[in-house]
Formats: sequence, structure tokens, C-alpha cells
Amino acid sequence: IPVDPFDIVIFGGTGDLSRRKLLPALYHRWLDGQIPETSRIVGTARSEMTTKEYREMAREACETASGKSWDAKAWKVFEKLVEYVAIDATNPDADWPTLKSKLSSNSDHPCVFYLATSPRLYVDISEALGRAGLATPNARVVLEKPIGTDLDSAREINDGVGAVFAERQVFRIDHYLGKETVQNLMVLRFANMLFEPLWSRNYIDHVQITVAEDLGLEGRADYYDKSGALRDMVQNHMLQLLCLTAMEPPNHLDDDDVRTEKIKVLNALTPITGDEAKRLTVRGQYKAGVRGDEPVKGYVDELSSDTQSTTETFVAIKAAVDNWRWAGVPFYLRTGKRLPYRHSDIVIQFKPTPHPLFGEGNDAVNRLVIRLQPDEGVRLYVQIKEPGPGGLRVKSLPLNLSYAESFTVRYPDAYERLLMDVVRGNLSLFMRRDEVEAAWTWVDGLIEAWDRGGTAPELYAAGSNGPLAAAMMMDRDGRAWFEGK
Ligand code: BG6
Repeated sequence: IPVDPFDIVIFGGTGDLSRRKLLPALYHRWLDGQIPETSRIVGTARSEMTTKEYREMAREACETASGKSWDAKAWKVFEKLVEYVAIDATNPDADWPTLKSKLSSNSDHPCVFYLATSPRLYVDISEALGRAGLATPNARVVLEKPIGTDLDSAREINDGVGAVFAERQVFRIDHYLGKETVQNLMVLRFANMLFEPLWSRNYIDHVQITVAEDLGLEGRADYYDKSGALRDMVQNHMLQLLCLTAMEPPNHLDDDDVRTEKIKVLNALTPITGDEAKRLTVRGQYKAGVRGDEPVKGYVDELSSDTQSTTETFVAIKAAVDNWRWAGVPFYLRTGKRLPYRHSDIVIQFKPTPHPLFGEGNDAVNRLVIRLQPDEGVRLYVQIKEPGPGGLRVKSLPLNLSYAESFTVRYPDAYERLLMDVVRGNLSLFMRRDEVEAAWTWVDGLIEAWDRGGTAPELYAAGSNGPLAAAMMMDRDGRAWFEGK
């Protein structure tokens, strides 16, 4: 269904995110007929560049991102929507009038300001938009993560942006919420009667959430070394996945109903402070190793400076959601770079049967494994009898639902969905101010405990499953990480 005509201005329009994600997302929505021809896409950045040069940059980016679905003829039409205006957003005397002249004067026309810049500029840009008369009621501002580096800086950003835009105009992106399989989590939970009665401490032993990457720093050393895995992945993506897994059914799918349920989960997270951090968390950093068969450098050797960085590239956490439904059920979170392969899974492990009628099996438990990426699907491990006359042998095998086998359609990238939601003004997949701040509150407590404890991260070889301590954390609880594919 086409959206209404809109304008989008991308700050940081020549940057990595714009080239890899935003421009290709807009191009694909156009290919699918969702973007009306009277819409405008305006890239802005500091560098002087003509619209022709910008279109050429955008073409290259979209062609690379499109692979087989590249359509040179359609691009010729699409590129007419794209323009460029050089703006130094920190300079009050920048060319705001030219930017304004590119945008529709129709006050019903949604205008999206996408801030794909450093978060340090969010407030400056918002204020400049206000001064330029561009923060109209139909304007929307999109903020990329990270929103700050701790609670205080997140509040500063939220206050500064909030002084110009109302909360309903602020779209804080967490691109995990735009992933097809992440949205399927809600459908799986709330459109199937099967799971809900079992979805609690009564039947669930524990939950594992893993987001593993085989990549290393990918040229983002400056940002990453100040951030680390906890701020980069846990504060946002992992906690969002935890919220969707643990939240109560919302009354409706409206913006605030879903967000209100998620924030209840964040507020129920038990703080991890002081010495508890040593028992409940593991920090790791990769050293030299392999990616597939290729040797790869260690983290510190990927940094440009000679510093002996103690930034973590891996984190494992035993979290607790302290509420009626989840009391006593551990949520094990794990994320890291340079792990053996890229996969994101949510594993719901059910309790063993009360009486082992068929003998003690090592693995005789039900598990629901929701693979978010890359080979999206849902597997429900059940026990079945192994065929054969020789006694009753029980085996755990999955009922397997593979997205690729069930659907032949192309999966839109998360940004495609999210950008169209911004245009429609649908906030449900975006983080509300209090959500971001609640997530920081929990993460800040943990960072403080780590800082006080002063322990360096445990090294793990690139291509391994992470630090030994992460396996031991599970072992102590008589559990193990689910490594099945
Ligand atoms: C980003 C992080 O938010 O998410 C990156 O900053 C990480 O470090 C990326 O690689 C992972 O996203 P995806 O969609 O590839 O799982």
C-alpha cells in the first residue's frame, strides 16, 4: 500500500548508514511502488557536492546493496527524487533556506529528518531545525542508536530534542525491531494459544538470547572502542529482544500499549551491582584467531592506536526479570564479535518432565528455538521414539519451520519497514524516551560495577565460542549454551 507523499532529509547523507541501509531501503520501497513520485529525498552533509554527484554515489550504494534485484531502468526514475544540499548542521549560518526550498510547503506533507550522524549532533541539529522553522507539527525526527553513552547523556539528548519536537514526533530506531523475525516473535507468542499457558516460570526453566557475529570491527574502531559490546548491543538490541520475550500481552498493537508493556519488563530487571557483577556477567575480548579458514587479527591490533584497550567485544549476562511471571527464571544474554558464525537466537528451554518415565536423557527437554537470523525459522524440539525394535530409545528432534522454505517472497530489510512506519507516523516499533532511559539505568549500574571491580576482559581466540568463563557461568547452573544450528 503506497504511503502518502513525504519528504525525507538525511543528515549524514554521505555516511556509511545512508549508503548501506537508508538509500537502498528507500530505493526498494520505491521499486515496490510504496513511495509516491511527489516525494523528495534530500541528502545533506558538510561536503560540497552537486546533486548529480550525490545521485551517482547513491546509485553505486543501491546497486551494491541490491545484488540481483538491481533495476537500472527503475533507478533512472527513482533518482529524480534524490537531491543534495551541503549543510554544516552545527553552523547556524548554514544554508537552511536552500534546504527549506527543496521541501514541500504543504503542511499536511510529512517531513522526516533522519539524523544518521554522531549522537553529539542530535541536539544541535534539532535546534537548528527549530530555528529554520522546519520543526512543524508534521515533522518527524529519527534518532539512530546510540542515544547517549549513559543515562545522563541520554537525558541530555532527550531533553534537547524534546525542547524542539514533541515525543510523538521523535522516532528512536532500534533496527532489530524492524526485522521480520523479531516481529514474528509477537505473532508467535500472541497469535498461538499453544504457547501462552506455558510461557512462565511454571514451565520454563530458562531463556537464552544470543546475538553472535563473526565480524570484527569493520573500520568502526573509534566508535566501538569507546562503546564496547554492552553499550553497543545489550543496552538496545538485546534488551529489546528480552522485552518482547518477557512482556505481558499488550491490550492492542497500538504504539503505547506495546511500549508500556516493554517498559514494565525493563523496570523489573534486577540491578546487577557490586560484587554480583563478577558472578552474573562475563566480559571478553577477542585475540588473534581465525574467521573460517582465514587468520584474523586480535581486537587491540585492529585499533589504530597502540593502546592496551580493555573494551569488551563479548559479554554474557545472567539477568533476572523480577516479576510474577518470571521470578526465578534466568535470562542468559550473550553477544560478541568474532564468534564462529553469525546467528541470533532466542532459546526458550522448558523444564524437564516431572518423572523420567523413559530414563534420564541428557537432552530430554523441550526447547523452542527462534532463529532471528540468518536462516530465519522456528524449531520446537520434542522427544520422539527412535525407530527400532530394541527397547524404547528417546531422541530429541525439532519440528522445523523454515522461513526460506515457507515463503518465497523477498524479506525487506529492517530499515524499509521502519522508514515507512516513520512516514505513517506509527511509533510502535520505536523506543519511547522512558524505555531508553530505563535501559540505560540498568546498564549504567552494571558498568559502574565493572569499573569498580576493575577486571580486564578475558581473552578468547577469534573464531571460538567466547571466553571459557561464559561456558562456566552456565555450567555452574547445570546448564549449557545452545550451540545447535
Ligand atoms: C549495530 C551494532 O547496532 O548492530 C553493530 O552497532 C552490529 O556493532 C549490528 O554489528 C548488528 O546488526 P545486524 O542487523 O547485522 O544483526
